[in-house]
Amino acid sequence: MESKWLRTDYCGEITEKYLGKEVTVNGWVNTIRDHGGVVFVDLRDIRGIVQIVFSPEVDEKLHQDARDIKDEYVLAVKGIVRERPLESINPNIKTGNVEILAKEFEILNVSETPPIPFNNPKIVSEEKRLKYRYLDLRSNMMKENIIKRHQITQSIREYLNNNNFLEIETPMLIKSTPEGARDFIVPSRLNIGKFYALPQSPQIFKQILMVAGFDRYYQIARCFRDEDLRADRQPEFTQVDLEMSFVDINTVMNTVEGMIKYVLSKVYGIEFNSNFPVFSYEEAMNRFGSDKPDLRFGMEIIDITDIASNTEFTIFKDAVKNNGVIKCIVVDRGEEISRSEIDFLRDWVKEFGAKGVAWFRVKNGDLESNLTKFFSENVRKKIIEKVSAKEGSLLLIVADKWEIATTTLGQIRLRMANKLNLINQNDLKFCWIINFPLFEWNEEENRLDPLHHPFTAPVYQDIPLLDSDPLKVRAQSYDIILNGVEIGGGSIRIHNKELQKKIFKLIGLSEEDAEEKFGFMLEAFKYGAPPHGGLAIGLDRLVAILQGMESIRDVIAFPKTQKAVCLMSNAPSYVTEKQLKELGICLDKEKIL
Ligand code: AMO
Repeated sequence: MESKWLRTDYCGEITEKYLGKEVTVNGWVNTIRDHGGVVFVDLRDIRGIVQIVFSPEVDEKLHQDARDIKDEYVLAVKGIVRERPLESINPNIKTGNVEILAKEFEILNVSETPPIPFNNPKIVSEEKRLKYRYLDLRSNMMKENIIKRHQITQSIREYLNNNNFLEIETPMLIKSTPEGARDFIVPSRLNIGKFYALPQSPQIFKQILMVAGFDRYYQIARCFRDEDLRADRQPEFTQVDLEMSFVDINTVMNTVEGMIKYVLSKVYGIEFNSNFPVFSYEEAMNRFGSDKPDLRFGMEIIDITDIASNTEFTIFKDAVKNNGVIKCIVVDRGEEISRSEIDFLRDWVKEFGAKGVAWFRVKNGDLESNLTKFFSENVRKKIIEKVSAKEGSLLLIVADKWEIATTTLGQIRLRMANKLNLINQNDLKFCWIINFPLFEWNEEENRLDPLHHPFTAPVYQDIPLLDSDPLKVRAQSYDIILNGVEIGGGSIRIHNKELQKKIFKLIGLSEEDAEEKFGFMLEAFKYGAPPHGGLAIGLDRLVAILQGMESIRDVIAFPKTQKAVCLMSNAPSYVTEKQLKELGICLDKEKIL
C-alpha cells in the first residue's frame, strides 16, 4: 500500500489520550450509517472498533465519496480525534468516548456483500461458517478464541522453557506403527509401494530423545488420527507433548499441574491455590461412574450392595450372586424428574449394558415405588439412612457387574445434572486419575490390550501379577481431567528391555511382530535408556473448555467437519492420473462413491 496510508495507530486503541491528535487508521468497515447530514463508519481492526465521522462541514466531496463505502470495504482514514457528543457515547467499547473526524480516506479494497452475517456465528449454520471461514474468523467470538489460543500456547512455552525443557521437532513422515487409531498414510514416490504414516503422536520419537540424553523435551505437536469424529475430536489436532528423564509419576504430574496453573494465572488471571485432587481409577469409577469425572456437582454414587441384596427382589439377588454390585445415586429435587423420564432411563441404560434401573421416591420418610413390596421396612429404612436421602429425593439404582453398574450410574448422574441444571458453566474443576489398569480384555480377539499404550510401565508392586493375574496390574499412568473431559494423559514408560518384551508377549505381539513394528525403538533401548515418563495435553480441548466452547472446531482456525472434510478448500480431493501413476497407485473404482 501507499506509504502515506500506513496506520499510525490501531482502531481499537484510539481513546481520550488521542484527543486533538491526527491519526491514520486501517481496517474493515464493520457498519456504515448514513444519517443524511453525516456518514458514520465503524472501522474494525484486530484490536477493536473506532467510529469515524465523514462530515460535509469538513469537505463536501469527502462526504459524498463516503456514501459509496460498503460493509467490509478495506479503508485507510486520516483524521482528528475528538470527543463524541454525549448522546453517542458507547460505554461498552474502549473507544466509546471518542470518534475520528475524517480529513481524507482511501478505499484500499472493496468487498462483495458477505454471504454470512459473521457478527453472530450462533445464527449461521456451521457448514456456512466453515465454507467462509475467513469471514467467520472475523467475528468477535472466533477472533477472541484464536487470540486466546495464541496466548495459551505462548504461556505454555514460557513455562516449559523456564523449567529447562527443550522444544524439539519430530518428523511428520514416519513409519506406520499402530497406536490405537488408524494411521493416515502417505505414498512415497521415491520408494514405490511404500508408505509413510503421519504421526498419531510423537510418542516413540520423544522416548528416543530421552535415550539420546535430552532430559526434558516438549513440542506443540500436530497429531493425525483417522478415527470417527465427535465434537472433541479432529483428524488433525494439537498436543502439548512432553517427556522427562529421571522422574517418577509425581514429578511429571507436578510439572504439568504447574503448567496449567501458570496458564490460568497468566492468560485468565485465575489463581488456583490448592492441588488438583487425585483419584485412583477405582475410586473415580466407584464415586462418579467415570474415569473422567465431572466434579462441578456432587450426586456421588453410593454402594448399597450389603443392604439391598438382602431382599426378595430377584434382580438384585441375582446380580450379587453373580459377583455383581448394587449401586445408587440420590437425586435431590427428585420431584422434578417425571415418571416418563424414569421410563426413558430404563431403556436408555441398555446402551451401557445395564438391564434396567430401579427407582424409589422418598415420601413420608419411606421409599415408594412399584418395588416397595420386595423390600422389608427395615431394609427400606437402612437404605434411606445409608444414602442420606431427604424427603422428595429420587433414588436410582443399578444392580449389575461392577463396571456396568458404575458406568451406567455415571451416565445417569450426568444426565440428571443437566436436567436439573446443576452445572455451573463458569466453573473449572480439574482432577487427576491414576492407577488405571495396565490392560483391558479384548473380547473379540480374546487377548489383553494395553489400555494406554504398550510402553506404559506397570506399578512396581504389581509386576509379580503380570504372570498370575495381569488384568489386576495397575499402570503408572495418569490422565488429567477438566470438567469431565480428558484433556491429557501420559505415563511412566518401561525402560527395561526384558519387561518390555514381557508386555509385548502378554498383548500377543510375537517377537517378530514387535521387531517389525518397534524394532528401531527396541534397538535404541539397548543403549542405556534412562527411566523416563511424559504426557500430552490436547491443546484444542483445553482451549475450548477455557473459552467456554462446546466444540474444539471453534478454537481451531481451519477445522474439518465430522466427515473429515475441509469445506473451505474441499480437501480431501481426487488427484490426477499422472500423480497416481508416478506413485504406482491404482484406484479401486468400485469403492469410489
Ligand atoms: P492420548 O492418545 O491420550 O496420549 O492423547 C493425549 C490427548 O490428546 C487429545 N486428543 C485429541 N484431541 C482432539 N482430537 C483427537 N482426535 C484427539 N485424540 C486425542 C486428548 C488426549 O487426552 N502419546 C500419548 C501421550 C503420552 O503418553 O505422553 C498420547 O497421545 O485431550
